[in-house]
Amino acid sequence: MNSTDIKLDITKVENSRIDQVDFDNLKFGKINADHMMYCDYIDGEWQTPKIVPYGPMEIEPSAKVFHYGQAVFEGMKAFKDEDDQVWLFRPEQNFERINKSSKRLAIPEFPKDYFFNSLKTLLELDKDWVKKGGGNSLYIRPFVIATENGVSASESDQYRFMIITCPAQAYYNKPIKVIFAQEFSRAADGGVGYAKAAGNYGAQFYPTKLAKAKGLDQIIWTDASSHEYLEEAGTMNIFFRVGDKLLTAPTNDRILDGITRKSIIQLAKDNNVEVVVEKVSVKEIVKAAKNGELKEIFGAGTAATVVRVEGFEYDGEYYDLPTIDEPYGTFFKKSLQDIQYNRVEDPHGWKMKAF
Ligand SMILES: Cc1ncc(COP(=O)(O)O)c(C=O)c1O
Repeated sequence: MNSTDIKLDITKVENSRIDQVDFDNLKFGKINADHMMYCDYIDGEWQTPKIVPYGPMEIEPSAKVFHYGQAVFEGMKAFKDEDDQVWLFRPEQNFERINKSSKRLAIPEFPKDYFFNSLKTLLELDKDWVKKGGGNSLYIRPFVIATENGVSASESDQYRFMIITCPAQAYYNKPIKVIFAQEFSRAADGGVGYAKAAGNYGAQFYPTKLAKAKGLDQIIWTDASSHEYLEEAGTMNIFFRVGDKLLTAPTNDRILDGITRKSIIQLAKDNNVEVVVEKVSVKEIVKAAKNGELKEIFGAGTAATVVRVEGFEYDGEYYDLPTIDEPYGTFFKKSLQDIQYNRVEDPHGWKMKAF
């Protein structure tokens, strides 16, 4: 595909804001690059995508997104290599997933050529906002909101698909402490847990706030019916190393099918690490923590890549994890970043050149 395939309306900024940004002290998600993309769905059709300077937009208070939460999003990153080439990591997966999420929320699917053409054009325009190396990236946030006016409780007949971007440094620069959920739930069978629906995240903030008040960083969600099986963290999938085996829950309709997760499972296979994709019980993890077999827990997701868990709370008790030599987490993080920053071969064809 090239940029002449799809018509885009482009309005460039007159003056870039890039010189006002301190790229060494970024707060995740707070600063946006110069341009954004939007595309409206009106009369049953996606209109011409527009690229415009990032900024506020007008939307009526009765727009359905404000009342019924009909909104989905994605999170992806662009990386710059030493030769100033910009790369995306498995972006087709994000594209497919936003449409899967949209379908569950009765939002019309977005065309693939519109998505990639506008994303690539946006990245080319804002390429100076993608910084090289050291955990730097341009975080990309595609999202869709219901824009029809009127507070009747029904699906919207108008939508806006948007892409905004923000320069990012490493998300967590320290290990995290977690709690295994025993009271609240993130998702239920037949629900929207597998979708990146905005409401899934809003509903996590209160339980997470309670966890933070106890000095913990994140919740590891368990299955809603029994709280006996460990599923995922708020914005990450989760891996456990018991002995030399790597355990992670299978995805289902409560769990987000993470791209980092599936890449780590593949890398583990490539490197002869035994991966067990089966339900992970709280009991077996607590037992392994007590008898010293639990060597690592780490979270995996686009924002953080891989983050080490230093300990967990369950049933009022806190379990410290050991600090070990050559953790799997560090190995997988480096392996992924080496591919993302184009430092090594990419045997699975995961990278896509941005423009
Ligand atoms: C709930 C949830 N689980 C897992 C992930 C990790 O998915 P990915 O690796 O595709 O970023 C995310 C982030 O996107 C998430 O929001």
